[in-house]
Amino acid sequence: MKNITIGLFGFGVVGEGIYKVLEERPSLNATIKKVCIKDPNKKRDAPSDLFTTDQNDILLDESINVVVELIDDADAAYVIVKQALESGKHVVSANKKMIAENLPELIDLQHANNTTLLHEAAVCGSIPIIRNLEEYFDNDLLSAVSGIVNGSTNFILTQMGTKEAPYEETLKIAQELGFAESNPYLDVEGIDAVNKLSIVTYHAFGQKITPENIIRWGITSLTPEDFTYAKEKGNVIKLVAKTYIDDNQKLHASVLPTFVGKTSKLGLIDNEYNGVVIASTLSDEQFLSGKGAGRYPTSSAVLSDISALRYDYKYEFKKANKNVFELDHSKVGKFFVSFPADVVFDYDLLEEIEVKHFAKNRNYVIGDVAFKNIEKLKKIEGTSLIAFEQE
Ligand code: HSE
Repeated sequence: MKNITIGLFGFGVVGEGIYKVLEERPSLNATIKKVCIKDPNKKRDAPSDLFTTDQNDILLDESINVVVELIDDADAAYVIVKQALESGKHVVSANKKMIAENLPELIDLQHANNTTLLHEAAVCGSIPIIRNLEEYFDNDLLSAVSGIVNGSTNFILTQMGTKEAPYEETLKIAQELGFAESNPYLDVEGIDAVNKLSIVTYHAFGQKITPENIIRWGITSLTPEDFTYAKEKGNVIKLVAKTYIDDNQKLHASVLPTFVGKTSKLGLIDNEYNGVVIASTLSDEQFLSGKGAGRYPTSSAVLSDISALRYDYKYEFKKANKNVFELDHSKVGKFFVSFPADVVFDYDLLEEIEVKHFAKNRNYVIGDVAFKNIEKLKKIEGTSLIAFEQE
């Protein structure tokens, strides 16, 4: 594709970033013809005739050959992306929720309409993880992908862990810096990470797992005592997303607060940075890190996708349907579970208890928890759960 004429949906943090970068770099040979926005009255730093509130001004315009979809609302994004693919337009999207929920159907739509959907910016901002998993890592060799995939929670955990900053205050800063989702619940409860892990699993192993089927625990219940415990043991707490295939060809996927060594690969990833460890039989471990959220890091991934369309790049999904890995939740892992001293705690939710610690305000136990019991632990008021790094 020689000339790229873009219809842009959304002019938020990333949308405006793309606009500015393309304006400053005419050599990229891609122009934005129209931007579809929701609120026409909002003041924007671009000519007013660029904007429309009618999505058909983009979707029905035959001169627009690429739709860049950067809106918040996953349901609305799905409708736009579907229609764009059906009308023969290529799509670049950063909408992890929409992609995680609809990827197999979107792949079919691409095949049926001979179009392309690229979504590097949906996972880990500026880190080229999707294309690496697609092109470089062969399915037979890959065993695990794990890492920090949400910049906002990593920012909050870093600030809470190093400066003892209060949770609410650091969340507010993450929002102001443009890292957090407009509904930050998605970040702090690990839902954004789960969506990203679902996409990663598809590109890593060719296996679709719905986000709801991924074991998940967010960061909202962590307390200063948890950070103190981590520090005493030379650890930091990170929200780690992990997908892997075990020796019995079973698939495991989880997003959990996890103790990692302060100077380990992931332990050194701070603030809005993301880091991904790719484990494979022959190469052992590869590590990618970079900014995972924010205007320009995310714009860089969107631009890379726009540029890839120029040479007709598309994901081939070579691994899909090659193997069927069954999702297994029967795993048992070692966890630190802390809870307010005055709640009635159900110790039977742990299979084996190594340590019981009682204090004035908060108690903790360390022991084995079956992953299927994690949802039950969530129901005990004020409980926080942190995984020890495990196989
Ligand atoms: N809210 C997301 C994050 C934005 O904090 O990682 C980038 O996907």
